[in-house]
Amino acid sequence: MGSQALRTDFELEEEDRFFISGVEKVGRSRNTYEHQLRKRKVLVGVLIAVCSLGLVALIIGLGWGLSHRKLDYVCPRTYDPGNTDLVFYVIGDWGRAGSEDQQKAARLMSDVSQCMPPKFVISTGDNFYPSGLSSPADPQFQQSFTSVYSAPGLQVPWYAVMGNHDYGDSADDATLTSCLSAPTSEKQCEGKCCISPFWQTVPELAARDGRWNATLGNVVTRTFLLGAASSASGSGGTLDILFVDTVPMIYQYESRRWASFLYGFKNQSAHVEDIKASLVRQLNTSLAGGSKWRLVVGHHPVRSYGSHCSQPDPNDCMDMAFLRPWLREYRVAAYLNGHEHDQQLIKSDTDPVYYVTSGAGSETRAGEFDNLDSDERSKDALFLSDKQGFLAVVFSGASMKLHFYTTGQSGPTYTRVVPAPSSST
Ligand SMILES: *[C@@H]1O[C@H](CO)[C@@H](O)[C@H](O)[C@H]1NC(C)=O
Ligand SMILES: *[C@@H]1O[C@H](CO)[C@@H](O)[C@H](O)[C@H]1NC(C)=O
Ligand SMILES: *[C@@H]1O[C@H](CO)[C@@H](O)[C@H](O)[C@H]1NC(C)=O
Repeated sequence: MGSQALRTDFELEEEDRFFISGVEKVGRSRNTYEHQLRKRKVLVGVLIAVCSLGLVALIIGLGWGLSHRKLDYVCPRTYDPGNTDLVFYVIGDWGRAGSEDQQKAARLMSDVSQCMPPKFVISTGDNFYPSGLSSPADPQFQQSFTSVYSAPGLQVPWYAVMGNHDYGDSADDATLTSCLSAPTSEKQCEGKCCISPFWQTVPELAARDGRWNATLGNVVTRTFLLGAASSASGSGGTLDILFVDTVPMIYQYESRRWASFLYGFKNQSAHVEDIKASLVRQLNTSLAGGSKWRLVVGHHPVRSYGSHCSQPDPNDCMDMAFLRPWLREYRVAAYLNGHEHDQQLIKSDTDPVYYVTSGAGSETRAGEFDNLDSDERSKDALFLSDKQGFLAVVFSGASMKLHFYTTGQSGPTYTRVVPAPSSST
């Protein structure tokens, strides 16, 4: 009807036919209130659409920006891959079947590995809670290690030392009665529950996850070439890291029921003097061989403000005190340990050695340092944290940077630059 009326009003050209229905509608509603209202609605609709699009774009942009900013910020501002000789991470006391506390530190490591990937990871022990592996097929290895540290940047060698829990500490009564208490051979263990730190060192375990590389009851020196950034010949010298099993050195374990497990405490402590002699020999070889840097890794602390060293008896730092003169004499830059479920950096004016605790890989002791006397603490405690986290160590030029990462914080929470120890006394 309307269209007919229009046709009588206008002579339509061919090209105008396309618009006829629109013109018809406009013609019908022109100058009416409804038309004004519709115009306004369309305008508002368009505005809302434009605003929504803008908002979505803003959110996406902000999200993108934040995720990129986060990564920029996660890595230390001083980090320059082109001028870096070596990066590695240190974490301890972690294996709790992927619990939320374990994931906190694992996520942090995975984030940092995206912008500052490590060459390897050091585990300072207590790799499998509560009481180590009971066979080379123990599912804990998958649950606590392989499936947790699955980020692409963490697919590097993991050099681990043993902690007391890896030896069986904290095995409950039921476990102690149902598992073999004093096996005399691996053969006896076949098909039985048989807790032993030894399972962490067997080829069957490394076959399950090729990253795993643990040492038990002895001292192993691993040498790394520095200066790759500045020259292919390694003009930056070498770094020797000595991995020590400290469990056999702690007297209080002598009387524990788990001390007789396969290759357990009693078996290893029987040759503790050999372990110590081997450590001195390897330190001496490293220094005499002209290695620029030396680090020593063990589970138990030598210096600590944590609970294992703030009580008189037993006091694990007392058992480990024999190391202090050797660390000085052989110019070890830092001693790295776990055992305390926290992070600490201790450096006194009278001792050239940096004492580093990185044992915050899962459960931590919240409030651990709250009652510490502030005078006491200010003497030599550079950094103390009771939060989950790990340590990233970066070698570049003549210095080693210690970046302490803690959960809930972007970027390193604390960084300390350690100069290379002097090569002469
Ligand atoms: C250590 O354990 C192994 C395997 O059970 C045994 O053959 C060896 O004699 C033990 N050594 C000591 C000193 O107990
Ligand atoms: C463990 O690391 C050392 C180097 O420090 C290497 O020679 C050895 O082959 C590694 N073992 C495994 C099982 O990967
Ligand atoms: C340390 O190394 C030097 C040089 O190789 C050697 O002469 C000395 O006997 C070694 N000392 C010890 C305690 O091993």
